[in-house]
Amino acid sequence: MEQIKLFSGQALPLEMHKVRIVEKLNLIPVEERAKAMIEAGCNTFLLRNKDVFMDMLTDSGVNAMSQNQQAAMLVADDSYAGSESFYRFESKIQELFGMNFVLPAHQGRACENILSQVYVKDGQFVPMNYHFTTTKAHIQLNGGTVVELMTEEGLKINSDEMFKGNMDTNALAKFIKDKGPENIAFVRMEAGTNLIGGQPFSLKNLEEVSNLCHHSNILLVLDASLLSDNLYFIKKREEDFKNQSIRQITKKIANLCDIIYFSARKLGSARGGAIVVRKQEDYDRMKGLITLYEGFLTYGGMSVREIEAITIGLEETMDENMINQGPQFIEYMTNELLKAGVPVVTPAGGLGCHINAKDFLPHIPQEQYPAGALAAALYVTGGIRGMERGTLSEERQSDGSETLANMELVRIALPRRVFTLSQVKYVIDRIIWLFNHRELVQGLVFELEPEILRFFFGRLTTISPWIEDLVKKFREDFGDSL
Ligand code: F0G
Repeated sequence: MEQIKLFSGQALPLEMHKVRIVEKLNLIPVEERAKAMIEAGCNTFLLRNKDVFMDMLTDSGVNAMSQNQQAAMLVADDSYAGSESFYRFESKIQELFGMNFVLPAHQGRACENILSQVYVKDGQFVPMNYHFTTTKAHIQLNGGTVVELMTEEGLKINSDEMFKGNMDTNALAKFIKDKGPENIAFVRMEAGTNLIGGQPFSLKNLEEVSNLCHHSNILLVLDASLLSDNLYFIKKREEDFKNQSIRQITKKIANLCDIIYFSARKLGSARGGAIVVRKQEDYDRMKGLITLYEGFLTYGGMSVREIEAITIGLEETMDENMINQGPQFIEYMTNELLKAGVPVVTPAGGLGCHINAKDFLPHIPQEQYPAGALAAALYVTGGIRGMERGTLSEERQSDGSETLANMELVRIALPRRVFTLSQVKYVIDRIIWLFNHRELVQGLVFELEPEILRFFFGRLTTISPWIEDLVKKFREDFGDSL
């Protein structure tokens, strides 16, 4: 809300929308929250939503839809083959990205499955600015190795670098030279780099990466799932592009890439995904697998209603007053927490506010999952469901040892246009309370540990009865408040 100044001089994120459909929320008492958390194996993924007050697990598939998206869903063309809904979707993507070929898929990881099966050969490398959980799993399943070549700043929790999602281009040039282009399946850039705190890359950096790739005939693949945040940050933070429209910046980004894929659960604010390619030969290599895994080429596993909603959602992403809502609320939350001394990732990124669990709970070793413990404690404290993004989200090594994550984060996602400022203030209040009683929180240990993507279904228990201590303290401080 840069343009709207308040008489008080206060900087507040201002909702540029009004709420016309609501869902009632329920906050169960702290004792019941403790019980629910223990029953969920101390894993916020395993909570039932009826027990959650502020669902800030993710922005995936839970962004608010606009009335125009809802309206478009009513006029979807329900046909297996040749649906007009798909052609509208295809032409919107062609218009925004300037690429010709659109392969529909049911969500982001479905795109990753197909991309990895087609392009990753046993023993090959995939350099990227940073991994995402599902991306890495698919590349590894196909015998590839993920190589993270982010800049040093990217891994600093607190930095002045406005583009922490940048690739270290010197490292990339050296890597290509050392390994040889033939051993590189493709280079992947992730917009709004999720696991380091929703941090953007700059357009200049993408340009350099693109030049290096194309000089060596290597495909550049963009994961555009979190593109809307990245677009906003380029416009706001990158001097050279501040006078360009979001639409122009989008086109510039796309022009630098060979393949773009996205989870439309994020980009487009509905539920689906797509792989977008420039060349017929890439389209031809993947289309068979789309029909095998996803569905016919005019729906790719998506409902036609969702396809219509995504088409409108993509167009709405070109509106700065739409895409600024997430980042501005996140910035507000980040600043308020900083004022109270709570360790958070800075600069504020997209997707959510990221709490640094390593500093929040310095007494918990990484092997006891401080970020997992903090996520569990936050739910007990306020019915707030965040997501662990640390060691628990890594895979255990084949020798049984832990892969200690670079960062131990708890992500408090702000699904776009879903929560109001008073709700965000409540969340801030409860995080600050927990920070003041952080010594009560102890570690976790696995009771049941799945081999792949263990954070989704893994069940853990507390190393001591600290959840009970937390409930007791809550009652002391808040009396009979929920
Ligand atoms: N790439 C990125 C950058 C993502 O953030 C996600 C999903 C995916 C790919 C996979 O997409 O879920 O549609 O299959 N991120 C979700 C999250 C799970 O909560 O951050 P998907």
